[in-house]
Amino acid sequence: ALGRGALYSSEASAIKRVAVVGGGQMGAGIAQVSATYEHGVTLIDVNHEALDRGHAYMAKSLARVAKKKFPEEPAVAHDWVEAVLGRVRRTTSLPEGVANADLVVEAVVENIAVKQKLFADIAGAAPGHCLLASNTSSLPIGRIAEPLDAPTRGRTLGLHFFNPVPQMKLVEVVRAAETSEQAVGRAVAFVKSIGKAPAVCKDTPGFIVNRLLLPYMMEAIRLLERGVADARDIDTAMKLGAGYPMGPFELCDYVGLDTLKFITDGWFKEGDGLRGDKAFAASGKLDELVAAGHLGVKSGRGFYDYSKK
Ligand code: NAI
Repeated sequence: ALGRGALYSSEASAIKRVAVVGGGQMGAGIAQVSATYEHGVTLIDVNHEALDRGHAYMAKSLARVAKKKFPEEPAVAHDWVEAVLGRVRRTTSLPEGVANADLVVEAVVENIAVKQKLFADIAGAAPGHCLLASNTSSLPIGRIAEPLDAPTRGRTLGLHFFNPVPQMKLVEVVRAAETSEQAVGRAVAFVKSIGKAPAVCKDTPGFIVNRLLLPYMMEAIRLLERGVADARDIDTAMKLGAGYPMGPFELCDYVGLDTLKFITDGWFKEGDGLRGDKAFAASGKLDELVAAGHLGVKSGRGFYDYSKK
């Protein structure tokens, strides 16, 4: 059973140690699910306060999971949470945090210069077999990997999780032009190992989910602008007529209107193959809400008012 087969077997290339860079909402969620499924995890952030917030986020989320998993056994639930949290080490040192990793998942601010610098630093400190993944929603993986050497670009890809990570089952596995087949295969196996479903796709704006959702959300806003129906009726129509769990305006408010505008403006201006695409042209209504600071659920008001809840 030794030789070539063993060398390239899933056992030899299996991911056991995961480093997550960025302890925000997404990073903490990715660390949490990785540790839940028995991976050894290191959570890395630039400051201790962010790591503490990440820890608190995981503890709270795990407590909810444990309550469902062990409804009659609070002591067992408590021990389970502690055991999962015990598999997550925290550090502010990037070189130390990635030194033994089989996979690094980056979930820091959505800024190309920051990510490029970070990937170069990770490549310099992580082992040669380590997969380098970005959780970016809107930046091309190929551009993040640009400063790296060719072999390192071969093991760089996107692993796009959805918010909230512990609940959302999908992970888009984004294959950049230079990502190797072996890297894609290992990433797919990792996604399955943490109880999620992978969807492999090319490195194009919005990947699959956002490429389909954003035109839909923008067109819903245009229906409203044209006076076809009000927001509540459009939401009701899509929930009951198309079976969507949320209507488009509920979804816009949940995602954040500033985020929606940031992404669609970016694609309209310079999205690969999308430049000038009418689907992503600015909307007067959206611009007005964002300018007024009505950003959705997080600001208390967007298309709907959340202040009285
Ligand atoms: P966040 O702002 O909550 O967290 C970012 C964290 O990264 C902060 O704790 C910050 O201290 C840390 N950080 C910044 N620069 C760093 C560096 N150089 N080294 C180490 N840590 C650093 O952001 P969030 O919402 O968790 O998003 C992170 C990434 O995930 C972004 O690329 C975003 O596009 C992507 N994403 C976000 C989704 C969302 O719904 N929020 C959904 C899917 C992807």
